[in-house]
Formats: sequence, structure tokens, C-alpha cells
Amino acid sequence: MKVQVCIVGGGPSGLLLSQLLHLRGIETVVLEKHGREHVLSRIRAGVIEHGFAKLMREAQCGDRMDREGEIHEGVQIAHDGVIDRVDLKGLTGGSSVIVYGQTELTRDLYEARDRLGGKVIHGAADVALHDLESARPHVTYRVGDKTARIDCEYVIGADGFHGVSRKSIPAGILREYERVYPVGWLGVLSRTAPVSDELIYAKHERGFALCSLRSRVLSRYYIQVPISDTAESWSDEAFWSELTHRLPADVAAGLVTGPSIEKSVAPLRSFVAEPMRHGRLFLAGDAAHIVPPTGARGLNSAASDIYYLYHAMLDHYENHDDRGLDDYSKKALARVWKAQRFSWWMTMMLHRFPDSIEYDRKLQDSELAYLFSSEAALRSFAENYVGLPF
Ligand code: APR
Ligand code: PHB
Repeated sequence: MKVQVCIVGGGPSGLLLSQLLHLRGIETVVLEKHGREHVLSRIRAGVIEHGFAKLMREAQCGDRMDREGEIHEGVQIAHDGVIDRVDLKGLTGGSSVIVYGQTELTRDLYEARDRLGGKVIHGAADVALHDLESARPHVTYRVGDKTARIDCEYVIGADGFHGVSRKSIPAGILREYERVYPVGWLGVLSRTAPVSDELIYAKHERGFALCSLRSRVLSRYYIQVPISDTAESWSDEAFWSELTHRLPADVAAGLVTGPSIEKSVAPLRSFVAEPMRHGRLFLAGDAAHIVPPTGARGLNSAASDIYYLYHAMLDHYENHDDRGLDDYSKKALARVWKAQRFSWWMTMMLHRFPDSIEYDRKLQDSELAYLFSSEAALRSFAENYVGLPF
């Protein structure tokens, strides 16, 4: 098969780029290791920046997001028995975020790909990238006992943190920066009314907690747990009881509990790979960088890569201008690192770390005291939370 752009990975990054390029007449194929149902069974975060929402609309994938997603104009932070609110809209001159599950967003992208007859190959095993430093790279893969080859002009590595693309960059060129946090998040999805209309990030001496939601009848909650804990080691009762402890009493009083529909533990990690381009390979999304979920930056960081990559590809194919491609890594990384900083900062401020000393905990208190006593600090928080400009 011959195609202009071969995209490895059928998560949100790969699908969105393929959809955007297709709409401008640039031919792509997406190689996805798993089946569609597997991809759509992963429960991930659900906060979408306004810039990302705009890109979804441009990709003709925004209808359901706009219909079913909720616009959130503020977020709340519970600490020391009080709840403070960050007025996202007021502090940013009108910006907000949309709460809409990544799973639903990915479903919308798949449906959009179907509508246009986009090529997505599921069950692509042993994907390998070849001749990336030449003008004619190719990608090989296997489905069942049949191997196949795709000749292309560009390869996009959108295959997530565990994918093959990043590993195809020679070790002498690739640099990786990483921080692993000694805590995890236990997440529960339940068919219950959310405890609050807005997200509540809670700092508590027993550990962090987050109240989030997917809709008026579907709640998503998280509690910080030791990294060694498994979802199986937490009964629903134990989860609700611990969450109740970590929320301010008046919030906890309104908590509606119910059986968990999904329960899983996610590790917290910050990670960046540089550069994000090697020859004809361009990395995007989780393949190049990971954030802890605290600031809801993960999916949004992937979206900014796609924005830069999409425009660079358009300049290449429509205007014979390669400056966007040449600058991609530098431009994408500049924004990626800002999202890294924000999610690292929020993570450090709100969790109870097993190895923290009293001094660290006093600093956490002073971070929060400063945030809610300074309009400049609040403005900075809001500007980061709704998403820095692309
Ligand atoms: N070959 C083909 N596909 C692969 C391979 C491989 N070797 N390895 C992984 N994949 C697929 C995965 O099965 C997955 O569907 O690549 C896809 C990558 O999707 P994601 O991990 O969702 O990454 P991305 O699309 O960049 O999405 C951004 O934002 O907050 C984050 O983790 C969140 O998924 C989210 C991400
Ligand atoms: C979620 O709803 O899953 C969610 C929301 C905000 C975060 C992380 C996760 O910061």
C-alpha cells in the first residue's frame, strides 16, 4: 500500500490527525494494535480545553461534544476544611473547559473516520518503522499470518507511551526526562449523580481526592493510594468510605454512592522525550510525553501536538513550505513543557507524599495560601487550566 502519511496508533491523537488531514485531501492510514472495542473500553480523563474543542469542530467531530459535554466555568479546590473556587471564566476573560469523556471523544473520532471511509487497520501487530532518515520511509506490520508494507512520505508516531515509534529513534539522539511519583490514583466510575456541579480537587492529610463527572448521572471519583495497591484490594465500600473522609464534611454529606462500573489504579508519571522528530518520523501525544492527571493536561497536550503537526503538514502539502515541519519539535516541546510544569506543580501541591518532610508540607500550605490570596496567581492557574494558546 502507498499513502502520504502513515499514522501508528488509533488513540485520540492518531485519529484526530487522520481526520483533519483527510478533510484537506491528504491521504492517511492508521495502524492500531488493538481492536476498536478495546480502545473504546479505556476510561481516561474528561476535561477538554477550548482550543482542543475548536479543533474537534474543525475535524467535524464536535457535534456530540457540544450537545452532551458540559461547559465548566470554574473548578474548586478543597483544603484545610474549606473550599475555594477558581473562576476560570472571569479570570481568563471568558474561557472555560468542556467536561466530556475521552472515551466518548474517541468514539466520535472513530465514527467520523467511518463516515469518510478513513482507513484504520485494527489488530496491526509487529509494527516496525524503516528508513526514517530517507525520503521514502516504510512501515511493516502483521495481521494474523499476513505481513504487509506501507510506503509513505511521513510516519506519525501516535502510539502512546508503550508504542514502538519513540523506540525507533536511535538511543544516541533520543533524550528522555522523567519523574515517577510514589503514589497512584484509584479511580471509580459509578452510575450516580455527581456530588458537585464543578470538579473538586481535594487536598487532605490522608491523601488527595478528586470529584469529577461524565454527566448528570455518571460520576468519576479518584483517591490517592500507595502505588503498590491494586483495584482488587479496594472494595467499593472501602473506596467510598475513604473518599468521604477526604472531602469537606458538607460535600461528603451530599455524596451519592453506588456500585462501581469501573475501578482501576493509575500510576503518576511525568515524562518527556526529545526531540519529537527524527527524519520523517514525527511523535505526537503520549508517545512523546506523559503527565500526571492532576491538571487534566494529558489529552490536551496531545491535542496541541496535533494542531502543530496538522498545520505543518498543510503548509508542506498545500504551500510547499517545510518550516512548520522543521520547527515542529521545538514548537511542540515548548508547549509540552509548560503543561508539564503545571501538572507537576498541581501534583506536588495537592498530594500527601510518603517521603515528604514537614518543611515540604508547610510549602504546600503556602502554595495554596498564596494562590487564593493573589489575583495574579489565580489568573495564572486559570490560564493554564483552560489551556495556553497553541
Ligand atoms: N502499534 C500500533 N498501535 C499501537 C502500538 C503499536 N506498537 N502500541 C500502542 N498502540 C496504540 C494503542 O493501542 C493506543 O490505542 O496506540 C494508541 C495510543 O493511544 P493513547 O495511548 O490514547 O495515546 P494518544 O492517542 O496520544 O492519546 C493521548 O492523552 O491523557 C492522555 O493517556 C491519555 O490516551 C490519552 C492521551
Ligand atoms: C476525570 O474526569 O477523569 C479527570 C478530571 C480532571 C482531572 C483528571 C481526571 O484532573
